[in-house]
Amino acid sequence: MSPLKHITIEENVEYLKRYAFFERAAMRALAGWLPGVPEWDAKNEIGLDVWESADAVDVIYGRLRELRCYQPERNISPVLPQIASAFDESANTAEVIATVYLVVKKQLLEALRTHPEATWSDFDNPTVKVAEQLIPSLERQVAWADAYFPTIAANYPGWEAWRDYVVGLLAADGGISGAGEKSEAPARPEGHALLLPWMECQRMPDWPIFKPEEDIQPDRETDPEGYRLWRFKHYTNEMTAAETLGSILWMTPEMIWEYQHNVARHLWDELRHSQLGQTRVQQLGLKLNEIPQVVQIYNVMMTLPAVEQYALLTTVIEPNGMPEKTTNREHWEALEDEISAAAVSYDWSDENFHVRWGQKWTPVLLKTYNYPETPDEIRVRMEAWMLENTPVKMQQNHAHHEY
Ligand SMILES: [Fe+2]
Ligand SMILES: [Fe+2]
Repeated sequence: MSPLKHITIEENVEYLKRYAFFERAAMRALAGWLPGVPEWDAKNEIGLDVWESADAVDVIYGRLRELRCYQPERNISPVLPQIASAFDESANTAEVIATVYLVVKKQLLEALRTHPEATWSDFDNPTVKVAEQLIPSLERQVAWADAYFPTIAANYPGWEAWRDYVVGLLAADGGISGAGEKSEAPARPEGHALLLPWMECQRMPDWPIFKPEEDIQPDRETDPEGYRLWRFKHYTNEMTAAETLGSILWMTPEMIWEYQHNVARHLWDELRHSQLGQTRVQQLGLKLNEIPQVVQIYNVMMTLPAVEQYALLTTVIEPNGMPEKTTNREHWEALEDEISAAAVSYDWSDENFHVRWGQKWTPVLLKTYNYPETPDEIRVRMEAWMLENTPVKMQQNHAHHEY
């Protein structure tokens, strides 16, 4: 047994509450910022990290329940919501990455590394296991940010002031654990009006934008190669589905934790669907910055409130898209295109859960946000809305049940 002074079980609970708070704030800010970040590489990382942050929260909440803490945000320091707001109120990619990753996640990683020494680890083995479980993802995230940040920092002059503000807030609250020395609260820099939720999803200015009138679906039987490329370009554009879920997640903080954990996973799944498209189009000889970006789906969906977007996605678009995936798997298997068949088989498997989550959470959303409609009524209304408003013919076909 180490002769060092250890934290009590009550202090341990307070530390864990703060760790969970920071990861939950990171999850929400990164979700909200996913559509606002134009850099493609950053989007790919952030989509994964929304899920890893959510899962870290879930694991810590589990340990807190074992320690008989059922309300992990109760009596939390008032400075922590200020840090969460500062994440959200970042002005650009550099400020998001600097505050979330280079300040808070980096210090959280250090706190998790020292937690086994801080606690009575001989008696608190389950918390030690939690720390050991969370460290590898956090290490990867921080290493990514350290390597990536210098490639974009020069594009966003002035980011240092916002980073310093968050460094100051954290120091004023005794650091990650809250037990350190407390410095004086920093002054909030000027400006920084909240940009979330993003009404239009952002892309690098030189990336091509999708033109609906030029989107002609090649015939699957007579032009299988043309069809395959067309289909995987649309997969690449599932980035917009991830972005839609990011804004939905950011706009529905009143919902219970289990919903947020599910939506974070749903977001990452859609990012993975974009990535299976990205992998396949590159194998087929295209560069990512040659794929026209279907920003229109995100932008038109953002004219709807979050509840309606969620109902549209999970009770109309996703169930209606299922039969096409089964047909495509059989089609590619018949052509012995194992890679395409494997990709779509995992997409299909993920979609089963998305539809199930839609059935579970749409009624709760309707109730929470005081909609008078039943889940059936909102589904019918959203189906009609999509026929009017979608810029993508593929989705219109799905609404008509044509494959
Ligand atoms: Fe998908
Ligand atoms: Fe999906």
